[in-house]
Amino acid sequence: MLVDMVDDELSMVRNIHNYSMAPIGNAKMETCATNTNMCPRGSRQLWAVHNFMMWLCWVAFMCLIVCSARYFRHYWKRSIYIHATVGILIFVVTTVGVLMAWSRNPMRYGQYMYWRAWAALWENVATFMAWGLCISGMTAWFWRRYGTYEWGTTRVLQIGKVHRYSGQIFCFFVQGLIMFAIIDNFGFTRKWIFVSVFQFVGLAIIIGALEIRHQWIMRQEEPYKVPEFVMNGEELERRLHNGEMLMILDDLVLDVSQFYKVHPGGKFVIEHTVGTDIAKFFYGGYSLEDNMKPTPAFGFRHSNYARMIANDLAIARFDCPADGSTESFCRLRWDLDNEVNKLTRSFVLETLD
Ligand code: HEM
Ligand code: HEM
Repeated sequence: MLVDMVDDELSMVRNIHNYSMAPIGNAKMETCATNTNMCPRGSRQLWAVHNFMMWLCWVAFMCLIVCSARYFRHYWKRSIYIHATVGILIFVVTTVGVLMAWSRNPMRYGQYMYWRAWAALWENVATFMAWGLCISGMTAWFWRRYGTYEWGTTRVLQIGKVHRYSGQIFCFFVQGLIMFAIIDNFGFTRKWIFVSVFQFVGLAIIIGALEIRHQWIMRQEEPYKVPEFVMNGEELERRLHNGEMLMILDDLVLDVSQFYKVHPGGKFVIEHTVGTDIAKFFYGGYSLEDNMKPTPAFGFRHSNYARMIANDLAIARFDCPADGSTESFCRLRWDLDNEVNKLTRSFVLETLD
């Protein structure tokens, strides 16, 4: 096969003068890779590998990357690491793929970096986007995880937001590219149009189903699973003095000693609320930092995924009755909050039986 490929390449170079350069919309050029090994686009095998790499990267890996950051974010121990690993893989495979394409560009277009054919334009844009995403994702994550940003969570979150929205745009953008590339490289025939549309529809069904599930989860209120172990105030004090990272949410004691490293809102807010009742921040009544700049608003109201994570972090039921009281706790009703104005939200409190 390797010999064949080299052969193809040589024949291609020998025949190159027969082909004209391809400006945007040159249909003759766009379809020539289908049945010949002597095409200025490179050998058939090589382009099949190139196409497969693109598909792997921008369809299969894309599913993994969106799932880890969006649809399965409650698997907090693994999701960010899977996301980062797949992100780096996309970076590497895209780079190798694009270098393959660029190395042939002199033969195809007479220069390494070529933008004036649709395929080249899209591929280049997608490549630069993939690189930018990898860099922005890493910056957002490293800064959250290792950065020192005293009262500067806003800046860290902004990088995350840029990454998130450009990531979503990228995911849509490359689907168009994949469909185009399949037809472009294998031929404008019924078979390849079907393959192109079929794989897109298949992906759309999978992502559509996951998105519906996601929207459904977001609208639910995951009930808290209260552990059987009961911790009183003194026990909590003692553990905090021993350096354990615990916090209170309703009547749950949460152990955040691992979670603080991956908290999507940054480690700073967690480190600064260790040992306290975080309900007002968790439900969005208050903001620890003015992290909604430039629009000052409430604090951040956590999603249902955060409730699922809280269930994972809960290690005990906090028992702290007020003097003379038999009831130990009341809780904020998640579903009964009320927007008073842009800066204020009120909650309903109810006692637990
Ligand atoms: C080409 C590679 C990448 C793509 C296409 C990509 C795509 C995405 C997408 C679509 C989201 C938003 C999910 C949602 O809708 O909520 C996201 C979030 C995120 N990604 Fe990536 N990502 C890539 C690489 C990376 C890398 C290498 C890291 C490094 C750790 C990373 C870290 C993150 C983080 C921390 C978030 C959460 C951002 C936030 O919500 O504030 N990403 N990514
Ligand atoms: C241990 C309890 C906590 C858990 C399980 C948790 C979980 C999460 C999760 C999953 C997100 C991503 C968005 C979402 O799905 O809701 C998030 C974002 C955020 N969290 Fe927390 N969190 C906790 C505590 C806190 C505390 C105590 C604060 C503030 C004092 C805080 C501030 C934020 C902020 C500001 C964001 C916004 C991120 C953005 O704008 O993109 N969180 N948290």
